[in-house]
Amino acid sequence: MRNLIDITDLSIEELDGLIHTALDIIEKPEEYAEKCKGKKLATLFFEPSTRTRLSFEAAMLELGGSVLGFSEANSSSAAKGESVADTAKIVSCYADIIAMRSPKEGAALVAANNATIPVINAGDGGHCHPTQTLADLLTIYREKGRFDNLTVGLCGDLKYGRTVHSLIAALSRYKNVKLVLISPKELRLPDYLKTKIIEKFQMECVETASLEDAIPELDVLYMTRIQRERFEDKDEYERLKDSYVLTTDKLEAAKQDMIILHPLPRVNEISVKVDDDPRAAYFRQALNGKYMRMALILKLLDEAKKSGTHAKPFECQDVIFDEHPCNNARCITQTEQELRHVCKRTEDGELCCVYCEHKVN
Ligand code: NCD
Repeated sequence: MRNLIDITDLSIEELDGLIHTALDIIEKPEEYAEKCKGKKLATLFFEPSTRTRLSFEAAMLELGGSVLGFSEANSSSAAKGESVADTAKIVSCYADIIAMRSPKEGAALVAANNATIPVINAGDGGHCHPTQTLADLLTIYREKGRFDNLTVGLCGDLKYGRTVHSLIAALSRYKNVKLVLISPKELRLPDYLKTKIIEKFQMECVETASLEDAIPELDVLYMTRIQRERFEDKDEYERLKDSYVLTTDKLEAAKQDMIILHPLPRVNEISVKVDDDPRAAYFRQALNGKYMRMALILKLLDEAKKSGTHAKPFECQDVIFDEHPCNNARCITQTEQELRHVCKRTEDGELCCVYCEHKVN
């Protein structure tokens, strides 16, 4: 069974294919209006969402399908203690495809391992958010016309910002993309992403704490929210929450054709005055998310029709069971009933949890 758990589950050709489909949908929406007739999307959102959930729902409705689901953990049996695995098995009886968001890192993978229908990761804790990356990529393509030879600044909470993690993984596939990682030292990109992606694909990359210093060289500026809900220390959040605020003054030093992206919601990190600048692409980005989700639903349902039963990913991978428990407090292994700890050795020889990718000992 084909799922989308991590953006690297899609090859570069498949990403191109999704962009192509999305552009076709934009041009000829009427041709897609009945493509999912009789199909149901289940949106299982254990965490707040506006854009992701509603754009998934709009996507399915515009394809002629229907939608069921819940938008908070308290309104599902999770509140009674039901596991992600059981939820996925049950929803497989009622729907044709699942989009799931959870505060637990690796939850979508657990769902995919138990569902008999395709599962889309709509965000798992501070880990990843591949469908936001689809929105980001279509926006970059429509605004800049290319993915190669770009200098991309990622600014804000690079530690917990799952959209940044997935976007970096996608950008590593393209040629000559330079990353400028702009964050306070406490919120730098996790090491596993530096080794697994930036070093492995030999991406040019610099780290800085200064948005002002970085801005003149950027083709794309990707702003992010400081992720209040993921901080263990609330005082630290208070200290860091206003680290970066993009203002019209700061934009004076930017290129005339730089684009400003933000997965949204914005809290304070982009002044509302910036919205009137033609370089502000974040509302267009939110719309692009709907088209890419339409393209993704079509692709996964089409592949599900061909493949039938669901895969059991851990049987065919080189993994180690139960010997090295994961101690990341946000990992799904901490809460899921009788979920076996599973880890694998990364290319640099470290052992990491297959669910959340944190290092284990
Ligand atoms: C992002 C998320 O949920 O990670 N939002 C979104 O899906 N557009 C970003 C965020 O919450 O800061």
